[in-house]
Order: sequence, then structure tokens, then C-alpha cells
Amino acid sequence: MSLHDTVKDHYGHADLADVIVRALSANGVDTAALKPTDLAPVDQLHAGFAPATEYVLDALAVGPETRLFDVGCGIGGGSRMAAARGARVVGIDLTPEFIVSAQSLTDLTGLSDRITFVNSSADALDLPDASFDAAMMIHVGMNISDKRAVFTEVRRLLAPGGRFAVFEQMRAGAGDLTYPLPWALDESSSFVATPEEYVADLEAAGFTIDSTEDRTSFVAGSPPRGSSSPGLSPAVIFGPEFMTRIGNNVAASDDGILGAFLIVARC
Ligand SMILES: C[S@@+](CC[C@H](N)C(=O)[O-])C[C@H]1O[C@@H](n2cnc3c(N)ncnc32)[C@H](O)[C@@H]1O
Repeated sequence: MSLHDTVKDHYGHADLADVIVRALSANGVDTAALKPTDLAPVDQLHAGFAPATEYVLDALAVGPETRLFDVGCGIGGGSRMAAARGARVVGIDLTPEFIVSAQSLTDLTGLSDRITFVNSSADALDLPDASFDAAMMIHVGMNISDKRAVFTEVRRLLAPGGRFAVFEQMRAGAGDLTYPLPWALDESSSFVATPEEYVADLEAAGFTIDSTEDRTSFVAGSPPRGSSSPGLSPAVIFGPEFMTRIGNNVAASDDGILGAFLIVARC
């Protein structure tokens, strides 16, 4: 099986938007008037959930009319939070079921006029040069073997002075990873790199680094802080096995093997 097929297989679930809406409804959310914040306990597929996304959007100064590119947008949680700030967003993702769900959930929140979702791999993007002010990639690179190719594409899409925030699980220290992890069942589709390796790939793609920040504190206590309902978490999407995966992630963070790092670069 190719890497892309393994990744799609890992994330893809049919009828995902329906499953999410039913879970929200069962937990007392008014799904007839869905707000992006209602979805936050289930649609933020990364360490730190919605507060981490807000942190990344702040780092990029995303505001009204920012043209934002969301690399590996998942089911669109980050894209919707940016659109709720008034940004115009294009979100791309490799997993077709995620793009279908991202669109359905965005329709339900009334933000469809601000976001375009495209099913695509991040290393071959059919989008025009210099068409974005900012880009973000949140917990995607762990599935990407050739990060430099992706960063080169993102660099092409950004206008001069454009900013790029990369918020990822990165290798913080020596030690074996215990699988399954949230992004991979085994090492065949897991490509965890150090912050220094990310920086080298970003610089090789033509970026200048503004800052590198250890945000591992976001992981502590996951999942998922900020959820008003214990019945709502990404386990709605991934099933009870998700708890084992995130438990291994948290343990690796506690042991200093993994960290959640934010790198902000500009071109
Ligand atoms: C852990 S999820 C994070 C989703 C989203 N960024 C978020 O934080 O909610 C990882 C996502 O990366 C996507 N992905 C992995 N490899 C990719 C690639 N080569 N191109 C585009 N998307 C990719 C997966 O399909 C999945 O949706």
C-alpha cells in the first residue's frame, strides 16, 4: 500500500459529519443553529485543541480578509475558526472523507462563503502562485516523509512577506515511540522530525524563521481540555482506540521524546 493510501485509510471514515452531528445532539447541542465553537471538542485534531488553534491564528495575525491556506485541514476545524475571524480560507486535505465532512460541517455553520475545501496532497497543489497572505500546517507533517517538497509548494503559494505557521508533534529527545499514535498505527506512515530538521527544510524551501516555540504544555491533560461535555472528543471520529493513541502521545511527551512545537516562518 502506498503512503498516501495508508494515511487515507487511517483517517477516512464514512458519514463522519452525521456521526458528529448525532453526538453533538446527544450532548445537548442545538445542531439546527451550529456554531464553530460547538464543534470545537471534536473537530480540532491536534494537541491543545481550540486554544492551540487560536494561538496559531494569533501568531499569523489572522483577521478579516486574511487569505489563509490550511495545509492538511482535516475536517475543517481550524479553517472554520479562521473564517469566524473574517478570513478567506482554502483548506486542502489528502483524505477524501475528511474533505466531504469539512464541507458538510461548514455548510451547517453558515461559513461556506468564506472557505473552499479541496481534496489534494500537500506536495502537488493546483493553486496559483502568491495567492495567500498566510498558511498554517497543524499536526500534518508527522505523516509526510518529504516535508521540504510540501514547504516548497507552500512557499510558492504565499505572497511576498507571507507567514507560515507549522504546529506539529516533533521529536524532542531520544527514545523509541510506542504505537499506535494519533497519526499512525505503526512507523510505516510516521515521520516525526526534530525542530532543527523542520527549520532546515523550511529554510531550504526559501523561508526565514521568525520563531521556534515549545508548546508541549498544550498536551498536558489531553484529551480534551476545554470540552464542556465529556462525551465529546475526537474519539467520536476515531472510536475508543483514540484514547490509547493519545495516551501513547502524552506518555511520549511526559518522557521528553515528543513535543508540540510551533515554528513561524516568513517569505
Ligand atoms: C492529525 S490530522 C490534523 C487535521 C487538522 N490540521 C487539525 O488540526 O484538525 C492530520 C491530517 O493531515 C492530512 N494529511 C496527511 N498527509 C497529508 C498530505 N500528504 N497532504 C495533505 N494532507 C495530508 C490527513 O488526511 C489528516 O486530515
